[in-house]
Amino acid sequence: MASPIVTLSFTEATQKRRTIRALESKTTVPDSTIVKLAESAILTVPSAFDSQTTRLTVLFGDNHKKLWSITADALLAKIGEERWNGGTKDRIANFANAYGTILFWDDQSSATAMNQNSPDIYKDKTDEWVGHSNGMHQYYLWTALEALGLGVNLQHYNPLIDAEVQKTWTVPSAWKLKAQMVFGVPKEGSAPGEKAQKLPLEQRLQVFGANAKI
Ligand SMILES: Cc1cc2nc3c(=O)[nH]c(=O)nc-3n(C[C@H](O)[C@H](O)[C@H](O)COP(=O)(O)O)c2cc1C
Repeated sequence: MASPIVTLSFTEATQKRRTIRALESKTTVPDSTIVKLAESAILTVPSAFDSQTTRLTVLFGDNHKKLWSITADALLAKIGEERWNGGTKDRIANFANAYGTILFWDDQSSATAMNQNSPDIYKDKTDEWVGHSNGMHQYYLWTALEALGLGVNLQHYNPLIDAEVQKTWTVPSAWKLKAQMVFGVPKEGSAPGEKAQKLPLEQRLQVFGANAKI
Protein backbone atom coordinates (compact mmCIF):
# COMPACT_ATOMS: atom_id res chain seq x y z
CA MET A 1 0.00 0.00 0.00
CA ALA A 2 1.44 3.38 -0.99
CA SER A 3 0.31 6.74 0.42
CA PRO A 4 -2.21 7.34 3.22
CA ILE A 5 -5.71 8.72 2.67
CA VAL A 6 -5.63 12.35 1.57
CA THR A 7 -8.57 14.50 2.53
CA LEU A 8 -9.51 16.94 -0.21
CA SER A 9 -12.27 19.48 -0.39
CA PHE A 10 -15.08 18.70 -2.84
CA THR A 11 -13.70 21.27 -5.31
CA GLU A 12 -10.15 19.95 -5.04
CA ALA A 13 -11.36 16.40 -5.60
CA THR A 14 -13.38 17.34 -8.69
CA GLN A 15 -10.40 19.23 -10.11
CA LYS A 16 -8.11 16.26 -9.51
CA ARG A 17 -10.42 13.85 -11.37
CA ARG A 18 -9.03 12.92 -14.78
CA THR A 19 -8.78 9.94 -17.10
CA ILE A 20 -5.67 7.87 -16.40
CA ARG A 21 -5.24 4.68 -18.40
CA ALA A 22 -1.66 3.70 -17.40
CA LEU A 23 -2.24 2.08 -14.02
CA GLU A 24 -0.40 -0.31 -11.74
CA SER A 25 -1.84 -3.25 -9.87
CA LYS A 26 -1.42 -1.37 -6.60
CA THR A 27 -3.70 0.58 -4.31
CA THR A 28 -3.35 3.52 -1.94
CA VAL A 29 -6.10 2.32 0.41
CA PRO A 30 -7.36 -1.03 1.72
CA ASP A 31 -9.95 -2.83 -0.41
CA SER A 32 -12.43 -2.29 2.42
CA THR A 33 -12.22 1.49 1.85
CA ILE A 34 -13.13 1.04 -1.80
CA VAL A 35 -16.01 -1.26 -0.85
CA LYS A 36 -17.19 1.40 1.67
CA LEU A 37 -17.16 3.99 -1.11
CA ALA A 38 -19.26 1.73 -3.33
CA GLU A 39 -21.69 1.19 -0.43
CA SER A 40 -21.83 4.92 0.14
CA ALA A 41 -22.55 5.58 -3.56
CA ILE A 42 -25.41 3.07 -3.51
CA LEU A 43 -26.84 4.54 -0.29
CA THR A 44 -26.53 8.25 -1.07
CA VAL A 45 -26.54 9.02 -4.81
CA PRO A 46 -29.92 10.41 -5.96
CA SER A 47 -32.27 8.84 -8.50
CA ALA A 48 -35.54 9.92 -10.13
CA PHE A 49 -38.53 9.26 -7.84
CA ASP A 50 -35.91 7.71 -5.53
CA SER A 51 -36.12 4.66 -7.79
CA GLN A 52 -32.59 3.46 -6.81
CA THR A 53 -31.98 1.73 -10.12
CA THR A 54 -28.16 1.57 -10.17
CA ARG A 55 -26.28 -1.59 -9.20
CA LEU A 56 -22.53 -2.06 -8.74
CA THR A 57 -20.13 -5.00 -8.85
CA VAL A 58 -16.63 -4.41 -7.43
CA LEU A 59 -13.89 -6.70 -8.73
CA PHE A 60 -10.45 -7.07 -7.12
CA GLY A 61 -7.51 -9.41 -7.71
CA ASP A 62 -8.21 -12.47 -9.86
CA ASN A 63 -11.80 -11.31 -10.38
CA HIS A 64 -10.56 -8.06 -11.92
CA LYS A 65 -8.12 -10.03 -14.11
CA LYS A 66 -10.91 -12.39 -15.16
CA LEU A 67 -13.05 -9.47 -16.36
CA TRP A 68 -10.29 -8.30 -18.67
CA SER A 69 -9.59 -11.80 -19.93
CA ILE A 70 -13.31 -12.15 -20.76
CA THR A 71 -13.09 -8.80 -22.58
CA ALA A 72 -9.90 -9.83 -24.42
CA ASP A 73 -11.48 -13.10 -25.64
CA ALA A 74 -14.67 -11.35 -26.76
CA LEU A 75 -12.78 -8.60 -28.58
CA LEU A 76 -10.38 -10.94 -30.32
CA ALA A 77 -13.31 -13.05 -31.55
CA LYS A 78 -15.09 -9.92 -32.79
CA ILE A 79 -12.31 -7.89 -34.43
CA GLY A 80 -9.83 -10.60 -35.50
CA GLU A 81 -6.06 -10.99 -34.97
CA GLU A 82 -4.94 -8.07 -37.12
CA ARG A 83 -6.92 -5.37 -35.32
CA TRP A 84 -6.36 -7.08 -31.96
CA ASN A 85 -2.58 -6.90 -32.42
CA GLY A 86 -2.77 -3.35 -33.78
CA GLY A 87 -3.23 -1.68 -30.39
CA THR A 88 -6.32 -3.21 -28.83
CA LYS A 89 -4.29 -5.95 -27.14
CA ASP A 90 -2.08 -3.39 -25.36
CA ARG A 91 -5.07 -1.26 -24.41
CA ILE A 92 -6.80 -4.21 -22.74
CA ALA A 93 -3.52 -5.31 -21.10
CA ASN A 94 -3.32 -1.86 -19.50
CA PHE A 95 -6.73 -2.39 -17.92
CA ALA A 96 -5.90 -5.94 -16.84
CA ASN A 97 -2.71 -4.67 -15.19
CA ALA A 98 -4.61 -2.14 -13.05
CA TYR A 99 -5.81 -2.92 -9.50
CA GLY A 100 -9.58 -3.32 -9.80
CA THR A 101 -12.74 -2.59 -11.77
CA ILE A 102 -16.19 -1.41 -10.77
CA LEU A 103 -19.07 -2.50 -12.99
CA PHE A 104 -22.06 -0.16 -13.27
CA TRP A 105 -25.47 -1.65 -14.03
CA ASP A 106 -29.07 -0.46 -14.43
CA ASP A 107 -31.61 -2.77 -12.83
CA GLN A 108 -34.27 -3.11 -15.50
CA SER A 109 -36.90 -4.38 -13.01
CA SER A 110 -36.60 -1.25 -10.85
CA ALA A 111 -36.52 0.92 -13.98
CA THR A 112 -39.72 -0.68 -15.27
CA ALA A 113 -41.39 -0.28 -11.87
CA MET A 114 -40.51 3.43 -11.83
CA ASN A 115 -41.92 3.84 -15.33
CA GLN A 116 -45.15 2.04 -14.46
CA ASN A 117 -45.62 4.01 -11.24
CA SER A 118 -44.76 7.40 -12.69
CA PRO A 119 -47.38 9.93 -13.85
CA ASP A 120 -48.13 9.78 -17.61
CA ILE A 121 -46.31 13.05 -18.32
CA TYR A 122 -43.01 11.50 -17.20
CA LYS A 123 -43.29 8.06 -18.81
CA ASP A 124 -41.16 8.99 -21.82
CA LYS A 125 -38.46 10.45 -19.52
CA THR A 126 -37.79 7.73 -16.97
CA ASP A 127 -35.32 5.71 -19.10
CA GLU A 128 -33.20 8.82 -19.51
CA TRP A 129 -33.33 9.46 -15.76
CA VAL A 130 -32.13 5.93 -15.04
CA GLY A 131 -29.05 6.81 -17.11
CA HIS A 132 -28.59 10.10 -15.27
CA SER A 133 -28.51 8.36 -11.92
CA ASN A 134 -26.05 5.74 -13.17
CA GLY A 135 -23.81 8.57 -14.41
CA MET A 136 -24.00 10.23 -10.99
CA HIS A 137 -22.79 6.99 -9.37
CA GLN A 138 -19.95 6.93 -11.88
CA TYR A 139 -18.94 10.50 -11.17
CA TYR A 140 -19.17 9.98 -7.40
CA LEU A 141 -16.85 6.97 -7.50
CA TRP A 142 -14.49 8.36 -10.14
CA THR A 143 -13.94 11.53 -8.09
CA ALA A 144 -13.75 9.74 -4.75
CA LEU A 145 -11.19 7.19 -5.99
CA GLU A 146 -8.99 9.94 -7.40
CA ALA A 147 -9.28 11.86 -4.13
CA LEU A 148 -7.76 8.76 -2.49
CA GLY A 149 -4.73 9.00 -4.81
CA LEU A 150 -5.90 6.34 -7.27
CA GLY A 151 -5.97 6.76 -11.06
CA VAL A 152 -9.22 5.94 -12.84
CA ASN A 153 -10.60 5.43 -16.34
CA LEU A 154 -14.04 4.59 -17.66
CA GLN A 155 -14.63 1.91 -20.30
CA HIS A 156 -17.61 0.56 -22.28
CA TYR A 157 -17.19 -2.99 -23.53
CA ASN A 158 -20.88 -3.69 -22.95
CA PRO A 159 -22.90 -5.29 -24.46
CA LEU A 160 -20.13 -7.44 -25.97
CA ILE A 161 -19.14 -8.91 -22.60
CA ASP A 162 -22.51 -8.88 -20.81
CA ALA A 163 -23.51 -12.55 -21.10
CA GLU A 164 -20.14 -13.91 -19.95
CA VAL A 165 -19.86 -11.37 -17.12
CA GLN A 166 -23.38 -12.14 -15.89
CA LYS A 167 -22.65 -15.85 -15.92
CA THR A 168 -19.27 -15.53 -14.19
CA TRP A 169 -20.46 -13.41 -11.26
CA THR A 170 -24.07 -14.69 -11.11
CA VAL A 171 -25.46 -11.25 -11.86
CA PRO A 172 -29.29 -11.06 -12.04
CA SER A 173 -30.49 -11.11 -15.65
CA ALA A 174 -32.46 -7.87 -15.10
CA TRP A 175 -29.21 -5.95 -14.55
CA LYS A 176 -27.94 -4.25 -17.73
CA LEU A 177 -24.24 -3.43 -17.88
CA LYS A 178 -23.53 0.24 -18.56
CA ALA A 179 -19.85 0.93 -17.80
CA GLN A 180 -16.60 -0.46 -16.42
CA MET A 181 -14.47 1.78 -14.17
CA VAL A 182 -10.83 0.72 -13.91
CA PHE A 183 -8.64 1.91 -11.02
CA GLY A 184 -5.12 1.53 -9.67
CA VAL A 185 -2.06 3.56 -8.73
CA PRO A 186 -1.10 5.81 -11.68
CA LYS A 187 2.12 4.77 -13.40
CA GLU A 188 5.11 7.15 -13.18
CA GLY A 189 4.71 9.92 -15.74
CA SER A 190 1.03 9.21 -16.42
CA ALA A 191 -0.23 12.51 -15.00
CA PRO A 192 -2.45 14.16 -17.66
CA GLY A 193 -1.68 17.61 -19.02
CA GLU A 194 -3.92 20.58 -18.42
CA LYS A 195 -7.50 19.87 -19.48
CA ALA A 196 -8.14 21.32 -22.95
CA GLN A 197 -11.39 23.26 -23.30
CA LYS A 198 -13.25 23.00 -26.63
CA LEU A 199 -15.11 26.29 -26.24
CA PRO A 200 -14.57 29.26 -23.94
CA LEU A 201 -16.47 29.23 -20.66
CA GLU A 202 -18.78 32.06 -21.71
CA GLN A 203 -20.10 29.92 -24.60
CA ARG A 204 -20.90 27.06 -22.23
CA LEU A 205 -22.18 28.72 -19.08
CA GLN A 206 -25.00 31.21 -18.66
CA VAL A 207 -25.55 33.11 -15.41
CA PHE A 208 -28.31 35.67 -14.85
CA GLY A 209 -29.09 37.76 -11.82
CA ALA A 210 -26.16 36.73 -9.59
CA ASN A 211 -25.56 39.16 -6.71
CA ALA A 212 -22.09 40.71 -6.69
CA LYS A 213 -22.07 40.37 -2.90
CA ILE A 214 -23.36 37.51 -0.78
C1 LIG B 1 -19.91 9.16 -20.47
C2 LIG B 1 -18.44 8.96 -20.70
C3 LIG B 1 -18.01 7.91 -21.50
C4 LIG B 1 -16.64 7.65 -21.66
N1 LIG B 1 -16.24 6.54 -22.34
C5 LIG B 1 -14.93 6.23 -22.39
C6 LIG B 1 -14.51 5.00 -22.96
O1 LIG B 1 -15.31 4.17 -23.38
N2 LIG B 1 -13.18 4.75 -23.00
C7 LIG B 1 -12.26 5.63 -22.49
O2 LIG B 1 -11.06 5.33 -22.53
N3 LIG B 1 -12.63 6.80 -21.93
C8 LIG B 1 -13.94 7.11 -21.87
N4 LIG B 1 -14.35 8.27 -21.26
C9 LIG B 1 -13.34 9.22 -20.76
C10 LIG B 1 -13.32 10.49 -21.61
O3 LIG B 1 -12.68 10.24 -22.83
C11 LIG B 1 -12.60 11.58 -20.80
O4 LIG B 1 -13.35 11.80 -19.61
C12 LIG B 1 -12.48 12.87 -21.56
O5 LIG B 1 -11.59 12.72 -22.65
C13 LIG B 1 -12.00 14.01 -20.69
O6 LIG B 1 -10.79 13.69 -20.03
P1 LIG B 1 -10.67 13.75 -18.45
O7 LIG B 1 -11.47 12.58 -17.91
O8 LIG B 1 -9.20 13.59 -18.16
O9 LIG B 1 -11.23 15.04 -17.95
C14 LIG B 1 -15.70 8.53 -21.08
C15 LIG B 1 -16.15 9.60 -20.29
C16 LIG B 1 -17.49 9.79 -20.09
C17 LIG B 1 -17.93 10.91 -19.20
